[in-house]
Amino acid sequence: MTSTTLPVNVLAEGLDTVRRAPPGVLVVFGASGDLTHRKLLPALERLSRRRLLPAAFAVVGVARTEMSDDSFRDLMIGAIPDAGPGWAEIVKNSSYIAGEYSHPDTFTALQARLKEIEEALGTGPNRTFYLATIPEVFAGVAEALGKVGLNQPEPGGSARLVIEKPFGRDRQTAHELDAALHEVFEEDQIYRIDHYLGKETVQNVLALRFANAIFEPLWSRNYIDHVQITVAETIGVEKRGSFYETAGALRDIVQNHVMQVLSLTLMEPPGSIDAQGIRDEKVKALRSVVVPKLADVPNVAVRAQYDSGWIEGNAVPGYRQEDGVSATSQTETYVALKLSVDNWRWAGVPIYIRTGKRLPKRLTEVALQFKAVPHLAFPKEAATGLNPNALVMRIQPDEGVTLRFGAKVPGQAFMVRDVLMDFSYGAAFLEEPPDAYERLLLDAMVGDPTLFIRSDEVDTAWGVVQPLLDAWGSGDAPLSGYASGSWGPRPAETLIERDGRQWRTP
Ligand code: BG6
Repeated sequence: MTSTTLPVNVLAEGLDTVRRAPPGVLVVFGASGDLTHRKLLPALERLSRRRLLPAAFAVVGVARTEMSDDSFRDLMIGAIPDAGPGWAEIVKNSSYIAGEYSHPDTFTALQARLKEIEEALGTGPNRTFYLATIPEVFAGVAEALGKVGLNQPEPGGSARLVIEKPFGRDRQTAHELDAALHEVFEEDQIYRIDHYLGKETVQNVLALRFANAIFEPLWSRNYIDHVQITVAETIGVEKRGSFYETAGALRDIVQNHVMQVLSLTLMEPPGSIDAQGIRDEKVKALRSVVVPKLADVPNVAVRAQYDSGWIEGNAVPGYRQEDGVSATSQTETYVALKLSVDNWRWAGVPIYIRTGKRLPKRLTEVALQFKAVPHLAFPKEAATGLNPNALVMRIQPDEGVTLRFGAKVPGQAFMVRDVLMDFSYGAAFLEEPPDAYERLLLDAMVGDPTLFIRSDEVDTAWGVVQPLLDAWGSGDAPLSGYASGSWGPRPAETLIERDGRQWRTP
């Protein structure tokens, strides 16, 4: 069996060492940009270092910036200061095409280049087209690929389109983009990236739930009081102010990363752990999330923007003082949201979500907070340090799982308090996990769509946040402020406290 005919079901197979990309070409649109430099090239280099790329492999960079093949090769070399020995070979095979994304010449040149490379290296027509451009040109590039026939896999080959976020600005534009892509590519050729799905610990939600008999029976309204999902960042908008002004935290994090983590947390066990099994269940779970009514948005969602403050001992400016940001900006950098789920498993279990920039700690976690014991058999004073059980999946940093439970405090008196049972990835496994882009790039080249988002998932996820977009887009929706380095605005506390609950303090 050759590497190209190996079964591609990564999650079931689980053996990274036997999953190698077939010979082929990776075409990166937006090759002179930041994402290519910061994420894609380093991910490729790590794949090559792990010997997961074949010898017959090349990158073709495409972008508007004028650049020679040699300058592009220099850029590839410069992106990886401590590259392994295989990188030089890939760099040597790689080349660049400067051109407008809307101009047919760019694509006829690309077509000719692919033929040349495929003949010279014997790669076979395995083509992965990666859209790392600004989103405005996604549909145009797909259309132009179609015009020169590069959308059609040649016999014995493949043609796949990998597409970055943001996938649309709202439900309608996502729909339009999807329709434009489907004019040219079949759904099974389209790989919509959400880099959170490439994170080991996000995938571990599946392992924890479906590889263990002890957790799943507890994973429902019978035992769980509520769920909290936190995506906290210490960074501000950095150099992306003008982009962020058009996005905001709801579009940037909630619609994609949070919805993905949420669907993995809520989904039913799939019949099989493969692309269809998992994605069918994920979308089913998302469809059970109750879409907030427009009039309810003020009761279930809070948005806020960071003011100046202190992060890790350094004074930092407020959002409106950042480069590229309007001095009167109404863009939210923080969202808190309460959702509910209408299905057998989750009825009556609220899901609290919060995400923000410039919070005190970088941390992504899913916490299942269990119900309190029905009856406390010892005096209240003996249990002042006791909280209901919680199972916390720590997605980053310090990846792992924590179970909080009560234990007796040593001594003559009968006192109980919380203790933590802790699993840490770093301590349990010696091998370094692949970075998210490394994982997803390989999956796309191998042709495994499990960790990519299907058309119906994107649509359903937009559907959940659409009422918030509508309510907040109206211009008069309240926008709170919060000091950088704090855990968010007061109304977010109220959102959860009025249900008699509290945000976790990580
Ligand atoms: C990106 C957002 O999708 O995710 C960024 O556009 C955010 O604003 C980033 O900082 C967070 O990713 P990670 O992997 O650092 O949690």
